[in-house]
Amino acid sequence: MKIVMVGSGYVGLVSGACFADFGHEVVCVDKQESKIAALKRGEIPIFEPGLTELVRSNAAAGRLSFTTDLAGPVSAADAVFIAVGTPSRRGDGFADLSYVYAASREIAQALGRYTVIVTKSTVPVGTGDEVERIVRELRPDAEFAVVSNPEFLREGAAIEDFKRPDRIVIGTEDARARQVMADVYRPLYLNSAPILNTSRRTAELTKYAANAFLATKITFINEMADLCEQVGANVQDVARGMGLDNRIGGKFLHAGPGYGGSCFPKDTLALIKTAQDYGTPARIVETVAAVNEQRKRAMGRKVVAACGGSVRGKTVAVLGLTFKPNTDDMRDSPSISVITALQDAGATIRAFDPEGMEQAKAVLPGAVTYCGNAYECVEDADAAVIVTEWNIFRALDLDRVRTLMRSPVLIDLRNIYRGEQVREKGFVYADIGRGI
Ligand code: UGA
Repeated sequence: MKIVMVGSGYVGLVSGACFADFGHEVVCVDKQESKIAALKRGEIPIFEPGLTELVRSNAAAGRLSFTTDLAGPVSAADAVFIAVGTPSRRGDGFADLSYVYAASREIAQALGRYTVIVTKSTVPVGTGDEVERIVRELRPDAEFAVVSNPEFLREGAAIEDFKRPDRIVIGTEDARARQVMADVYRPLYLNSAPILNTSRRTAELTKYAANAFLATKITFINEMADLCEQVGANVQDVARGMGLDNRIGGKFLHAGPGYGGSCFPKDTLALIKTAQDYGTPARIVETVAAVNEQRKRAMGRKVVAACGGSVRGKTVAVLGLTFKPNTDDMRDSPSISVITALQDAGATIRAFDPEGMEQAKAVLPGAVTYCGNAYECVEDADAAVIVTEWNIFRALDLDRVRTLMRSPVLIDLRNIYRGEQVREKGFVYADIGRGI
């Protein structure tokens, strides 16, 4: 199959490389010339485990190529995937679809034979209808179908998620397009991944519903964690006791500083807006989004409390900046709210992250001292806060940390240590929802 990926960001690049690995001929397109030039040299603009090797091996095998020219590859394609960004629109939080529609117009001009145009970006219900209208208006003669095929991959585990998905959702009522999509995903059919054939609008909504539900699960357990702290219960045991019920499931019940990233915050807001527009407000999701925002800010207060009520004039070491481990992504990371709150309260911030420091410099407030490793970060600090659960923070030499710090206060916002283990070493230790 000949496949074109329009947009070589996170989803486009991972999907393109994985499709090439299935044996398809894939061209990844992006407007940013420097990005395409780097990709041609085998340099990957994002940190994602396994992606560099996958891109290089498939490029070397001649199955994966990169270009800024959309027209040539689209004219010969069986399927063109739209994987451009859909950021939150300023003001109302709705998804900004201008990149999707601009891509649709360019694709329309270049269409050759029968082509399936696939929206892979997370797009609100009805976007597929609008893409179809745009293409039909520009090219009344063209043979094409517009399909919704949302992506469910997680950053940090993207290749594994793409190649071994829980399910594939294909939204179209066009039989010919469904056949093309079946050919595109043939290797996964062979692995017996469940394929869900739905209407286009159903597929679009399924993606938002899934992300909003996961965000709800996280927010629910975070509230239980707060309650655990008040009543002297342990949220990890509560989560385990809940999760062993198959109807609930144990995943996404890790209490923490609130969800971040490029998807949950943006997608919950977009779903809220869609639901309001259709006169059926999604009240649970509205509450989830509001509670999560408050939570990220509350984490700063938690650190202040662990420091005895004030951080004025104190130095706080922040371990982990990205919104989760195994990524360099800082979008909507809880570290941003924590650091801002601590600086507002008069603290000096030292920070370390294994992969996210460059991205962090672009989004964090000024006056943060960036350190080369975790030990350098905690030097002379009055408190250390674990914000992201990178593996290297799970195996810190706590004796060394204690001697380096001015005062041994550890706030573990991801519950990666056991309280007794840390307190035995002489630390004041605070965590999330474990009965303190
Ligand atoms: C999420 C979904 O998990 C993917 O299925 C989806 O495809 C993707 O969004 C998307 O829409 O593109 P991602 O944002 O990469 O993936 O990250 P997650 O692993 O879902 O984590 C999101 C946030 O929730 C992180 O800040 C993480 O720390 C937090 N989280 C997750 C918790 O606080 N507790 C948990 O139990 C799980």
